[in-house]
Amino acid sequence: MKQNSKNNKLRGVYDNVMLPNYSPANFVPKKAEGSLVWDQDDKEYIDFGGGIAVNSLGHSHPSLIKALTGQSKKIWHLSNYLTNEPAIKLANKLTELTFAENIFFSNSGSEANEAAIKIARKYHSSRNENRNEIVSFQNSFHGRSLLNISLGSSEMHRNGFEPLMPGIKHGVFNDLSCLEDLITDQTAAVILEPVQGEAGVFKATNDFMAKLNEVTSEKGALLIIDEVQSGVGRMGSLYGYMNYDIQPDIVTSAKGLGGGIPIGATLTTKVIGESMQPGTHGSTFGGNPIACAVAHEVLNIVSDEKFLSDVSEKEKLFLNLLSDLESQGIFSDIRSAGLWIGCDLVGKSANEVLDQAYEQGLILVSAGSNCLRLAPALNISNSEIEKGVEILKQVLLGE
Ligand SMILES: Cc1ncc(COP(=O)(O)O)c(C=O)c1O
Repeated sequence: MKQNSKNNKLRGVYDNVMLPNYSPANFVPKKAEGSLVWDQDDKEYIDFGGGIAVNSLGHSHPSLIKALTGQSKKIWHLSNYLTNEPAIKLANKLTELTFAENIFFSNSGSEANEAAIKIARKYHSSRNENRNEIVSFQNSFHGRSLLNISLGSSEMHRNGFEPLMPGIKHGVFNDLSCLEDLITDQTAAVILEPVQGEAGVFKATNDFMAKLNEVTSEKGALLIIDEVQSGVGRMGSLYGYMNYDIQPDIVTSAKGLGGGIPIGATLTTKVIGESMQPGTHGSTFGGNPIACAVAHEVLNIVSDEKFLSDVSEKEKLFLNLLSDLESQGIFSDIRSAGLWIGCDLVGKSANEVLDQAYEQGLILVSAGSNCLRLAPALNISNSEIEKGVEILKQVLLGE
């Protein structure tokens, strides 16, 4: 990169004024459209990261711009003293498309999970049941708030932030044998991701989900599915739980729901939701009309059957193109769940590959220290997939 590049200048200011909890790429994007991003020096990148599974329809999708600008000329914010039309319509749409009957809006995945755990505890306490334990799983990721790092099990995420939230037990993901002992009459809820994304795209097996469904309902614990990353078409189904024969009690959604505009949603049934009477929980910005108008348009587009089957077709194209890299020993394993692909690197760190890919005009994200995670826009074109994988091959094979 040029010494006097605008990227360098802005990154210098970044290093000076921002909390050093991230280490972003050395370029600063200026503009983006679809699955293409341009930096301050007009260099073009193909975006395989999708803002970490957020830009479900790519950057600057015309229908989302229309929803956003249309709503921005009507009402921006009201507070929860007054409700608003986009929030009502979005909640209604979510109930039409999923198991849910009651919706709570917030602004992020962490907040959606926070609400889920509070709802689960309140549900039991309102029935005078003395249950407050939460069961979660090793290698899970539920967000970065104190509750959510307590639900997750990463030492790195927890280190220095203790004491964590008490009352949380961790089982082994996909281990059926641990469930009977783990879930007891003290368990308020079990929370899990249908696919552990941050861990490197590991799917829950059908048997594990079926057993979990059976044991939670047998013992009266609620089943919370964290669909913050897996939801809104990522897996080729509207929500990941729909791929399993299970009946969730609560589902959390965020990331792709807003297509790049912050929104979180906690979905549940009326029987469970009715314990959350006025004053029990809230959010200043949750249900923001602009965010809800955009999310409604995202759902309109993504819930279309053809759109979802195209996601699975694009997954196949990716896997086909990437299989070379596996057979040449560059990847030791490739796992996928729709347009969500984890590639385990052999002998290279993910960060090193990310930097090399930026140099060549490709944006990737990682999962752990040696896994490349691809989570592009769900409407990425076949030619962009082909071009991006070509760049990835150049980076990894030096071709
Ligand atoms: C499964 C899952 N849950 C929760 C979160 C937290 O979401 P947010 O960063 O919006 O708080 C994430 C974020 O990566 C996630 O992948």
